[in-house]
Amino acid sequence: MDDARPTVSRTPVDAGRLHDICLAWYEANARILPWREVTATAWHVLVSELMLQQTPVSRVLPVYAAWVERWPSPADLARVPAGEAVRAWGRLGYPRRALRLHACARILTERHDGRVPDDVAQLRALPGVGDYTAAAVASFAYGQRHAVLDTNVRRVLSRVVAGRAVPSPTVSVAERRLAESLLPDRDRAARWSVAVMELGALVCTARTPHCTTCPVRSQCRWRAAGYPAAEGAARRSQSYAGTDRQCRGRLLAVLRDSSGPVDKHRLDQAWDDDVQRERSLDSLLVDGLVEPLAGALYTLAT
Ligand code: ADE
Repeated sequence: MDDARPTVSRTPVDAGRLHDICLAWYEANARILPWREVTATAWHVLVSELMLQQTPVSRVLPVYAAWVERWPSPADLARVPAGEAVRAWGRLGYPRRALRLHACARILTERHDGRVPDDVAQLRALPGVGDYTAAAVASFAYGQRHAVLDTNVRRVLSRVVAGRAVPSPTVSVAERRLAESLLPDRDRAARWSVAVMELGALVCTARTPHCTTCPVRSQCRWRAAGYPAAEGAARRSQSYAGTDRQCRGRLLAVLRDSSGPVDKHRLDQAWDDDVQRERSLDSLLVDGLVEPLAGALYTLAT
């Protein structure tokens, strides 16, 4: 029977060769990023991973630098009101992450002696820390051996090993097993993870992969299969203009830029559409990013 699916090689991947090539490529091509420095603490790594969850490196860099300078340890952040974290988060987007990081700082201070735990289950129990972030902190801060499945790693493994242009929307058990089976020995596992992540960020990119300069092109099953397109409809990227997210951002910017509580009239000037503005303000209150005060005043979380 004619099968429309492209043929993907079933020969076992030469993991040892993949490791050597990716690690050598990383050695020569990795970006110098502050959270990768040997001086970066586990707290620095946790801060960076929360910031990088939904924001590109270039936008994270200045906010990260100011953050760790001002709050070099969890105890330093735990001491200030949550609104200070929201203010320092600036325009990174998805500002609930700032509240979660602040909640992490308080938990670490109260229950973990002010330190970031090295145990994946304990990390996973912290606010805003999912499977990916827990594995990333355990690997990059503590050198442990875990599959670190962020979008870049997932895309590279999907292409090179499974021969597919894009991974499935969520991580399957099979995908996790495959990633774990590909981890090199203990000492090299964390470096392998960051190397594959970097390959995904710089070469095996989502839209315009640089296959001609890719160090693993001769191992790549997606290339061998003739670059089959992704199955299913392409996901349309969400536009930002005119959304509640943009409206929330405008309202938060007014509060961030003010040294004290803000009158409702000033918030009303930040966005024309009354219905959308009220809905967005309500959602900021529900999320705990903003608090109402007497006399129609509003403030960042206290
Ligand atoms: N290095 C370590 N974790 C990273 C991440 N999430 N994004 C970019 N570089 C990283």
